[in-house]
Amino acid sequence: MNTQMLKKRREKLAKQLKKDEMLFVFAASEPSYPHYFLQNNNFLYLTGLQIPNAVLVLGKSKDKHLYKIFIERGIPEREVWEGKKMSLAEAKQKSGIEKVLYLDEFERNVDLRLNFTKKCYLNNIQTSLNSPLNKEQSFVRQIRDRFPKILFDDLSEIILPLRTIKEKWEIKQIQKAIDITGKGIKQIYKKAKAGMMEFELEAMLNYEVTKAGLKHLGFKSIIAAGKNAATLHYESNNSKIGKDDLVLLDVGASCNNYSADISRTFPVSGKFTVRQKAVYEEVLNIQKEMIKMIKPGIGFPELNKKTVELITESLKRLNLIKEDKEYKKYYMHSIGHHLGMDTHDIGKRDSVLEVGNVITIEPGIYIPEEGIGVRIEDDILVTKDGYKNLSESIPKEIEELER
Ligand code: GLY
Ligand code: MN
Ligand code: MN
Repeated sequence: MNTQMLKKRREKLAKQLKKDEMLFVFAASEPSYPHYFLQNNNFLYLTGLQIPNAVLVLGKSKDKHLYKIFIERGIPEREVWEGKKMSLAEAKQKSGIEKVLYLDEFERNVDLRLNFTKKCYLNNIQTSLNSPLNKEQSFVRQIRDRFPKILFDDLSEIILPLRTIKEKWEIKQIQKAIDITGKGIKQIYKKAKAGMMEFELEAMLNYEVTKAGLKHLGFKSIIAAGKNAATLHYESNNSKIGKDDLVLLDVGASCNNYSADISRTFPVSGKFTVRQKAVYEEVLNIQKEMIKMIKPGIGFPELNKKTVELITESLKRLNLIKEDKEYKKYYMHSIGHHLGMDTHDIGKRDSVLEVGNVITIEPGIYIPEEGIGVRIEDDILVTKDGYKNLSESIPKEIEELER
């Protein structure tokens, strides 16, 4: 990530702040052993720093913007165990932010400014009555007690227009995540056999991801054989694959915190049964129809409406329903979502597509009583003239799968 790109992002965000408004972005906390560190995506997006516990502060007074980052100070006795903390100089060089200070200077530094602040934007401030406060919410409470006139708003409101339009560099990361996911899927196609456990297929993907130097997946893999594929968020991946099973894969590697999100469904025997083929063809045709509709200006509501129409027709052809409204029994999610640093990326459910959006198109039909679940999911970049399917090279045609 170069600092020019980071600076541009910060400037775009700062432009949306009004006078006497502030923005605080908290990095993720240190994970407890044995979990791995996963940075807060807004913090990473704005600073490029993969360090825990830091805080980015952005303030606006008159026409001047003030950026500061507060980072942890290394404690020599702990550094023996955990390795060296990032230095002030390194944080400055990596983020392109001039003012980097230690966290123990945080309160003294922001106090003065808070006295004149009208509104603060923060991450993760949506809360519920029965869950413990996260660190952003605790911070809000602390400020509320002392500066009761300050208003608060969710950072996603103002960062959303930035993060939903992907830069070239971001598209490259998503593409890399997709390509490596594709490698894993192709290995699975090649090596999967009846009698294997679902987690054996999961391991084939994990091998490709790790071998490519990627640190983690974008989300927990779904490897679902037979009737398991009709459970939408099946993640236990510990059943044996039957000889006539269709296997549904919903997987995605993550590259520099940009996620792929791909679903494929294939017959483990190498041959679809007549019924499986009939269902698969319906889903595949719908998926292709829906991808063709992608262009700037079309909205998710319109795409969802069209999907439901097509699925309803399919379900009637498959003799599964008679009345239109019954479609919900076999199709219960939506056609897709924004994709990016979060697999279900920031972006509104009713958003209208713009050039630079990356979204998923993922229709499915799930028939638990027949042990069949089919979902096909591709990752699509919205372009000036329409779209580019970033996951086009991962086979999904019946002949390809049977081969
Ligand atoms: N992997 C979850 C989804 O496709 O939305
Ligand atoms: Mn998915
Ligand atoms: Mn998805």
